[in-house]
Amino acid sequence: VPKFPASLRDLATPALVVESSALENNLRRMSEALPGERLRPHVKAHKCTALARMQSEQGHRGFTCATVREMEGLAAAGLGEDLLLANEVLDPRKVERLAALAAAGARITLAVDSRETVAAAARGGLREVVIDVNVGLPRCGCAPADAGALATYARDAGLEVRGVMGYEGHAVGVAEREQREALCATAMRLLAEAHDQVGGSLVSAGGTGTFDCNSVATEIQAGSYLLMDTAYQSLELPFEQALFVMGSLLSTSLAGERRFWVGDAGLKALGMDHGNPRVDGGEVWFCSDEHITLSAAGDDSDFALGARIRITPAHCDPTVAYHDALWVVDGEKVVDRFEVDLRGW
Ligand SMILES: Cc1ncc(COP(=O)(O)O)c(C=O)c1O
Repeated sequence: VPKFPASLRDLATPALVVESSALENNLRRMSEALPGERLRPHVKAHKCTALARMQSEQGHRGFTCATVREMEGLAAAGLGEDLLLANEVLDPRKVERLAALAAAGARITLAVDSRETVAAAARGGLREVVIDVNVGLPRCGCAPADAGALATYARDAGLEVRGVMGYEGHAVGVAEREQREALCATAMRLLAEAHDQVGGSLVSAGGTGTFDCNSVATEIQAGSYLLMDTAYQSLELPFEQALFVMGSLLSTSLAGERRFWVGDAGLKALGMDHGNPRVDGGEVWFCSDEHITLSAAGDDSDFALGARIRITPAHCDPTVAYHDALWVVDGEKVVDRFEVDLRGW
C-alpha cells in the first residue's frame, strides 16, 4: 500500500505542496551565497523538521527559532547543535522547558532585551544569551544604547553573552533594492554600535530580503528563501517559488455578465497578511474562511467544476502553520510527505 497518493491530482484539497526541484535550487543557491555557519536558517518559515534536516545536510547546523516548541522539535530530531531562540521568554515554565533541552545536550541560546528577561533566563538555569537590539522594527529588542549595560547585567547574573542580534524586519520586504540596502545599512550601524559595547562573537541578523546586503552580521537568519511567497517574489531574489496550495473548484456563478469560480482554499489554508494569493490563470477576488473566489484571467477553458487550481501564497510562514503536512512533488508526481511538526508554542 503506498504511503501517499501517487499523483498531485489524487491529493485531497486544500493541500500544501512543495516543488522538489525549486526546493533543491533554493537550498543550493543560499548555501553557495552563505555557506555553513554564515546562515542560521529560521525554521519558523517552514516549521518542518524534515526541511531543517535538509538545511543541516547543506552545512547549516545552527538554527533560529521563534518558539519554544520549535526549539524542542529540533532538539528531539537531533538538530540541537546550536539553537537560537530569537524571541523573548518571561514565563518560567517556558524557560524550564528550554533548560531541559540544554540539560539533555542541546546548545540553547536565548534572546534577552530587558533585565526581566535576563533574570528569567538566569533563574531558570539557562547559560547562554544574546542581547536583542531594536534596530528599527517596532518589535522586541532593547535600545542600542542600552545593550552594553544589559550585557553587563547578564554577565553579572552568571550568563554567557554570545553577542547581539537585531532583526531589520522593516527592511527585508522593501521592493526597491537601493532603499532596502539603505534601510538595512542604517539598521546594521545600530547593531554594530551595540555589538561594540556588548562584545561576543555573534552578530545575528538578516532575512531573505537582505541575505546579500548585510555586511555587519556574522550570520543571517533567513528562512523564507526555502519556500518563497508572492511578497518575496516581487524583490527579484535568486530563489524560486517552491510552495503552493492546491485547491479544487467547487462552484461557479455569474455576477452580472462575469463568471466567477469558487475554490476550496480560503483564509484557513492561506496566510493572508501580505494580501491575496495568486492563482495560475486566475484573478483572485477575495478569500473567505474556506473559499477563494476568482475569475479566469483569460478565457475559462481551464476552469471546470472539480478542476484543480494552483495557488501561490502571499506569505509562506503563516500558510505553512495552517497545515498538518507538506506534500513534496516532482511535477505531477507526489514523492514524499513531510509532517509540519513544529507547530504550536
Ligand atoms: C527574528 C527574525 N529573524 C529573521 C527573520 C527572517 O525571515 P525571512 O526569511 O522571512 O525574511 C524573521 C522573520 O520574520 C525574524 O522574525
